[in-house]
Amino acid sequence: MPRPLIIAPSILASDFAKLGEEVRAIDAAGADWVHVDVMDGHFVPNISIGPDVVKALRPHSKKIFDVHLMISPCDPYLEAFAKAGADIITVHVEAGPHIHRSLQAIRALGKKAGVTLNPGTPINTIENVIDLVDLILVMSVSPGFGGQAFIPAALDKIGALRMLAGDRPIDIEVDGGVTADNAAKVVQAGANVLVAGSAVFKGGNYKANIAAIRQAGATARGETA
Ligand code: DX5
Ligand code: ZN
Repeated sequence: MPRPLIIAPSILASDFAKLGEEVRAIDAAGADWVHVDVMDGHFVPNISIGPDVVKALRPHSKKIFDVHLMISPCDPYLEAFAKAGADIITVHVEAGPHIHRSLQAIRALGKKAGVTLNPGTPINTIENVIDLVDLILVMSVSPGFGGQAFIPAALDKIGALRMLAGDRPIDIEVDGGVTADNAAKVVQAGANVLVAGSAVFKGGNYKANIAAIRQAGATARGETA
């Protein structure tokens, strides 16, 4: 059974002055998950939001909170994000020397564990932790900012990681520059979770934007949206 197609809008592209309203809006517009980008100004050259904001947003949606930690170190903050209401916590394999420990800690907190790789990081860096993850996130831009162009080399990486995951119940997620125009290629390569920031929030019609991405992805899977 293929993993379900999931559209995960990134609230990094939303209006931070009304975050709660934005989360309710993407929920109502058909988002499957809410993707939360956490940046520390150290691991990536930008600062976004922390656990208190995740906690404040939690009552605004019952959808899965998919929390992408672009922070180093990450271990001291895992419990805070778990308590704040994250459902999935994803950490970068480049964020520290002990990815195995970080993933174990996330699962020990009762959360789904994700691992992610920057565009320049080879897939063999996660081979030895494949049995500790529920999700693999393929970065298709260098993390830090929304609105960047999709790096095509991510497509081969998605395919290789889908193969590596094999029959395990692992979601393959893609993040960065995903649009309705490239969603089909991303899905054909083997991804089932599409993160989209700019492509969802541009123009203000979140419902139509999410539907366009879902339609492209579903068609590539031979399904109806
Ligand atoms: C990049 C973030 C992404 C980003 C995606 O550092 O992890 O989630 O917000 O934004 P778009 O879809 O605009 O590339
Ligand atoms: Zn992200």
